[in-house]
Parts: sequence; C-alpha cells; structure tokens
Amino acid sequence: MSEEPKREQWASRIGLVLAMAGNAVGLGNFLRFPAQAVKNGGGAFLIPYMIAFLVLGLPLMWIEWTMGRFGGQFGHHSTPGIFDSIGKRKFWKYFGVFGLWSNLIIAAFYLYIEAWCVAYAGNSLMGGFKETLPGDFFKSLTADSETSILTISGFGLSMFVLCIAINIWILSRGLSKGIEIVSKIGMPLLIVFAALLAVRGLMVSPSNDPHAVASPFEGLNYVWEPKFDSLTNPNVWLAAAGQIFFTLSIGMGSMHCYSSYLRKNDDVTLNGAAGAWTNELCEVVLGGSILIPIAVAYLGLAAVQEKVAGGSGFGLGFMVFPTLFNHWGSLAPAAGFFWFGLLFFAAITSSLAMGQPIMAFLQDEFRFSREKSALAFGAMLIPLALPVALFNQKSFFDEFDYWAGTFCLVVMAVGEAVLFAWVYGVDKGWAEMMRGADLKVPRFFYWVMKYVTPTLLIVILLASMFEPKAGWDGYITAATSGKPLPDWHWSSNSMVGKLLHHDLPLKENATPDEATFNRNLKIVRTVDRLAMVAAFAGFAWLISVAWKRRTMEGGTAAP
Ligand code: PHE
Repeated sequence: MSEEPKREQWASRIGLVLAMAGNAVGLGNFLRFPAQAVKNGGGAFLIPYMIAFLVLGLPLMWIEWTMGRFGGQFGHHSTPGIFDSIGKRKFWKYFGVFGLWSNLIIAAFYLYIEAWCVAYAGNSLMGGFKETLPGDFFKSLTADSETSILTISGFGLSMFVLCIAINIWILSRGLSKGIEIVSKIGMPLLIVFAALLAVRGLMVSPSNDPHAVASPFEGLNYVWEPKFDSLTNPNVWLAAAGQIFFTLSIGMGSMHCYSSYLRKNDDVTLNGAAGAWTNELCEVVLGGSILIPIAVAYLGLAAVQEKVAGGSGFGLGFMVFPTLFNHWGSLAPAAGFFWFGLLFFAAITSSLAMGQPIMAFLQDEFRFSREKSALAFGAMLIPLALPVALFNQKSFFDEFDYWAGTFCLVVMAVGEAVLFAWVYGVDKGWAEMMRGADLKVPRFFYWVMKYVTPTLLIVILLASMFEPKAGWDGYITAATSGKPLPDWHWSSNSMVGKLLHHDLPLKENATPDEATFNRNLKIVRTVDRLAMVAAFAGFAWLISVAWKRRTMEGGTAAP
C-alpha cells in the first residue's frame, strides 16, 4: 500500500482549523441550538448539554480525527475505507456507508435552507422586508402550506439550484483552493456579523424602543440560569446529546474526511479541541445571544416559547426575525443582511463538508477526477433535493432531518466508539491519537473513551428508539413514587413511533381536509423512506464494486 500517495492536503494550520470550525459551525448553532434550549427549559438544558459535550462530544471528536488521520495514510478519505483500514472486517466498510449516506441526505435539505439564506440576504440588501404579514417572503420562497402536499415555488427552486451549483463549483476546485479559502473568508465574517448583531440586539430596551415589550436580557437569562431539575429528565438528556452530535458534525463521516487530509504526525488533539471549542463559542455565546434575546425583547418569553414549541428555530429565524429588524429603522437592511449573511456563511462551510466525503469516496475508490466527482455528487443530490423543495416540509424535509440528521448520527457514533475502543483497542487508539499531539489529553478521557462514551451512547440510542408516550420521565416518576405505571404507547418522538407514523394525524379531530392531507403525507413519507433506503443500498453496492475491483488489482488501491 502506498505510504503517501499524491493527494490533497490542507495548505495551512489556520486554514485547517477554520475549515474544521466551518464544518461544525452551521445552521445548527444559530437556529437549532436556541430552539432546543427554549424547548427544553432554557437553563435546564445547558447542564446536560455541557456534560454531553465533555463525555460524548470531545471524546468522539478526537476519535473521529484520529480515525480520519489513520485512514488517510492508506489513501482513504471517506468512512468506508477509513473504517476498513481500522476494522479489518468486511462489516466495517459497509458500516462506513453511514458516513456517506448521512451527508447526502442532510445536504438535500440543508442546502435548501442555505438557499433561503441567499434569497433573504439579497432581499435585505435590496431594502429589506416590507411584508404586509410576517412570513410573506417565506411563503413566496417556499410556497409553504398547512394543507397542500405539493409546494412549488419557481423562485425557491431557482435559488435552490443556484445554491447547489455554487457548492459543486467550490467543491470541484479542490480542498485548499475551494473549501479552505471559503472558510478563511466566511468564518471571520460570520463571527463579526454575529458579534455586531448580538451587541445591537442586547441594546434593545423597552425604555429606548417603543416596540420592545421586554428586556433582551430576560431571554439571555432564561437560556443561562441553571435549573437543576432537568438532570433527572431523560428527554432533556436526549435532546442535549442530539444537539451535541448535530452541531459538532459528529457521527456523519464529515470530520473523518477533513482530518484524513492531515499528515501522519500532524497534531489531532489540540486541533480537534480547538475546532470543538470554536464551535461551542459560536453556539452558546453567539448563537445563544441573538435569536432568543431579540425575539424575547419584541415578543415576550411566553410568545417565543409558544412559537418554538411545535417546530424548530426556522420559523423564528426566517419568518419573525426580518420584521423585528424593521424596528431598527435605517439599520434594518444591514441587520437583515448580517443575520442572513452569517447564516449563509455558517451553512455553506457546513454543506461543503457534506459534499467532500462523497467527493473523496469517488476520487479514492473510483479514481474519478475532482470535477467528475463534484458533478457526480450533484447528480446524486438532485433527485433527493428536489422533492424537499417540491413537497410539504413535513414530508421529505422532516423525515430527512430525523432519520439522517438525528437518529443515524447516534447509530454511527455507537459503531465508531466501539470500533475505536474495543475493536482497534483503546490502548492502540490512545497511542495513535497522542502521536504528534500538541495537547496532552488528560488520562481521564482514556477511561471515558473506553467505558463512558460507548455505554452512554448505547443507552441514548435505546432510550430514543423505545421511548414511551408518557415519556421516560413519566415512567420514572411513577415507578419511584410507587404509582401504577402508565399504559404503554410509543412516543411519537421515539424511533419506533416515527417508524409507525405515530406523529400522524398531525391534529386530533382532523377535519376531512386535514384527514386527506394526513393520508397524502403518509404516502409521501413512505416514498421518501424508500428513497433513503435506496440511497443507502446504492452506496453499499458502490462499496462492494470498488472493493471487488481492488482485490482484482492485487489487494491495493491503484496508484
Ligand atoms: N454541524 C453542522 C451544523 O451545526 C451540520 C453538519 C452536518 C455539518 C453534517 C457537516 C456535516 O449545522
């Protein structure tokens, strides 16, 4: 096996760290985190969140960096090959499908939101949002509807296609000339935009702004004031762990891919930690200081909680926010541009990170050129991305988000934690991780990686698969207080509940129209699950073809 085949590399350490941070810092930081915090009791969320960062986030980040750098030495830059070089059993390379598949599925809906950011930023520059009703612009972009399955907007579609094309073009330029340059420009700008908005937002006050109903600090306080009662609520723990995974891009094969472009003795511990901490800074400090405080200042805490309850942070960020900026008078267009510009930079540095593993897979295992890989990525993406835009967001969008963006991240994390600590062996793994290390990781993490991370992951996976309708907390309270246990029904948030469509009907006592809508929704969701399965099988097939060719070529990757 060639030691150091001609391959792409990061051009500089600062470029590497910014690209890694760009990978992690995304829409998750500015839209998903604040919404999760509000839904899970504000300060009650933060303690499980931080613990999850320490015992799941950081260890898995180091594991993924270490695995990636290891696989890169054998010329592999995507998880099938990386896992294969570590695991030595057929199974592991197929397990690596998760690291391609999740990226493709997540990109299909993530790029759609990225396209909204482009449209919104453009509209802000052209004078801002003079909507008669909040959400008018959103409707014209997405044709979003409560009652229609088909949602076709020519405007939205063209922005979407444009956005996909931009990503493909940047990817085709290669690692250092594409991703690295975009990260070097995008990340600093994003941080500046976010800091400016946070500061201006916190200056809003009912005493200087007639539209404000509360102080933004009320929102900040809500997010930060520690509430310890959450510690016994498993659902808050699940949400916290889920957020840590999504925001750090863990369990997706994306971090492995980026770190596979390191050299053999490059540091992984300090770089990995720097990337993770930058992400946390952007998430809790910046992400926590914009959406919620500003929304609370103008709408009040109760209204914000109500708006976030049923959905994610998207409604607040895209429908409510633009009109709130109008209260800032002549600053409104700039504020809108900063907000959607920062979301765009956050998004594009992440969506490129979803494309790169698939590019790398085709380049390494099929000897595709960069341009051809980028086009092939586009060709795989379009059939999945178009239905996201053409069908109601409760169908493709939500399903992709749940299965690829939530559930399977944990599945992959379980596998890789076991692969690292128990198959490869934690001692060898630790030594591999510490080679060239600029940060001496405390021995504490050795034990965490060996026992805590895998165990906790398995518990989380099982708990989220089989959650009862009464919630785990309902069961635990009943059990500990000696009351009879509630009847068993699957929670609509559990994996089994989702699988069985327990979240449909969307409303109890549906009108006939709503019932038709629900029926159609069920059909479309079934089709989209089939599409996901087909994509998964497609990747598995490609792997088997690639490895067959490899053995025919004499057991090595062709030079
Ligand atoms: N971590 C990114 C975010 O917070 C999302 C992401 C998913 C990035 C998959 C890369 C790969 O939005």
